[in-house]
Formats: sequence, structure tokens, C-alpha cells
Amino acid sequence: MMLPHPIPYQGSKRKLAPTIAKYIPRRTTRLFEPFAGSAAMTIYVAFYGLAHEFVVGDSLKPMVDLLRRMVENPKPTADRYREIWEGQTRDNCAYFNEIRNRYNEQQDPLDLLYLICRCVKNAVRFNGNGRFTQSVDKRRLGMHPDKMQSAVIGVSRILRGRIEFRCGDWMETTVDATPSDFVYMDPPYLGTSIGRDKRYHQQILLDELVEGLWHLRNRCVPFALSYDGMTGEREYGPPLPCELGLVRLLLHAGTSSQSTLSGRNEQTIESLYVTPDLAQPVEGVLRLKSEQTELCV
Ligand SMILES: C[S@@+](CC[C@H](N)C(=O)[O-])C[C@H]1O[C@@H](n2cnc3c(N)ncnc32)[C@H](O)[C@@H]1O
Repeated sequence: MMLPHPIPYQGSKRKLAPTIAKYIPRRTTRLFEPFAGSAAMTIYVAFYGLAHEFVVGDSLKPMVDLLRRMVENPKPTADRYREIWEGQTRDNCAYFNEIRNRYNEQQDPLDLLYLICRCVKNAVRFNGNGRFTQSVDKRRLGMHPDKMQSAVIGVSRILRGRIEFRCGDWMETTVDATPSDFVYMDPPYLGTSIGRDKRYHQQILLDELVEGLWHLRNRCVPFALSYDGMTGEREYGPPLPCELGLVRLLLHAGTSSQSTLSGRNEQTIESLYVTPDLAQPVEGVLRLKSEQTELCV
């Protein structure tokens, strides 16, 4: 079986998952992924047997419902996607807009899946009221239902019976994480641009993030946090307080999809902050030698 990936979500950690997974301690009981999105880390870790159980959460309820349905009812879920997908034609954008309106009224998770698959560059966009606003990609029809079916069945096969779904804020999702668990966090970027980051339905504030990280540190929970990054000359995200004692690692995340959308070809470097117990050197990963990091370690 190939590694399944049924939700082509913008910002998915599918490509970085193998690198991040190198920091997961052996004999991890549960993997928590409280900013799940497409749950790329959970899927990778389950596929390679790196944890026994899984807790996924997201504040976007239809996303959590979608993951749950994929795992618990794979065939009806894939069938419903097929039904929605087959309703479209290449040259009829009105159909996409119809499904988008229906999603914005009813929040049906399968409508969301179709929108994610068919929208421009799979780059979801939400307005301040949480309404899905991205447009149709006229050049593609979105993931074929046969491919979707095998991915959904694959995800169900590796996760069924050992995953718990939680809808809500990440701090709630991780409240019972213990030192034998591992938490992987991938919040929306802070400071991607001045004003709202429209890529996700909800923003996150630095103070809240830091407060939550302290809770985890005080409970000795091992964790990794994908936090800020750099694309071309732009840097995202203010630094985290040194007192947290985290180690900052730099990972090559490939070509930036944001830049590609704007016609530029720029590489993205992402930071991965890890608790110091996890920070063994891994080939190809740069451990940041900045003054700040040396102080942090
Ligand atoms: C960068 S995406 C995660 C992508 C994910 N790593 C993947 O592989 O697809 C961030 C996710 O966090 C969710 N989110 C935003 N604020 C949140 C919060 N306070 N608590 C939980 N989830 C939140 C968004 O809905 C979005 O799905």
C-alpha cells in the first residue's frame, strides 16, 4: 500500500513528514496533532508504525468531521465524493460556486473536500466570517474519485480503532498529553502578512501560543512545532521566547506555493522548534547557530 493522502490541503506537511518524524521518540504512546488540517503527520506516523494511538484536532469542525468520516466510514465517504465530483464539467464554474454556497450554508464536510480538491492550487481561503471564498481552478477537475477512494480506504485501514477526533482549540486538544506522548503542532503562520492571514479560517496569537507551549513544557511533554519560516527575503513570525528552552531547526520545505501563485520561484525554509530532549542531529537539517539559539539551548 502507498502512503495515502486524501486531502490535498494547502500547508500540508506531507513532504516534511519524513524529516519531522525523525524527532519522534521511540515507544511513543500517542501522537497528538492539534492543528490537524489534512493530518499529514498522523497519516505518516500511523503508516510507519511510529506511535500506537492518535489524537487529532482542528478548530475547523467540518475538517475534523471529514477526517472522522474517512476513517470510520470510508466507502460511503468516497462514494459521496464521487457523486459530488461527477456533477461537474470542465467548463462549468457555476457548479463549483453552487457547492461553495451550499458549503457556506450547511458546512458539509464532503462539500469541503470537493472545494479543497477543485479550488485554485488547493489553496483554501476564508473570509472574516469563516466563509470559503477561494475560486475554482479552471484547468483541473480535482482529485479523481478512484484515487480518492483508494486514499480514503488506506487512511481508514491504518487509523481505524486507534484514533480520537477532537474539535476545538489546540490547548483543549492537548490538555491530557503526557511525557510518554508526542505533540506535533503546525499552527497557521504568525505574521504572514500585515492584517489577517486568509489561508485558514482562524488566526492564532503569539501570546496564546506561548502560553500553551508553557503548559506542555511544565508537564514535560515532548513536542515539535512548525512555526515560522522564510521565503526569499521575507521572514514569517516573531521569535519565540528563549526561556521556553526550545531548539530551533531549519528544514528545507521546497518551492513556496504562495510565490508560485504570484509568478515567483522561491525556496521556503521552515523552522521546527523541538523540546531539547529531542534535538539530536539529523542529516540535512541545520541546527541554527544564531546567538539566540545558543542561548536557548
Ligand atoms: C497550517 S494548517 C495545518 C496543516 C497540517 N499540518 C496538514 O498537514 O495539513 C493549520 C490548521 O490549524 C487550524 N487552526 C487554526 N487555529 C487553530 C486553533 N486555535 N486550534 C486548533 N486548530 C486551529 C486551521 O483550521 C488549519 O487547519
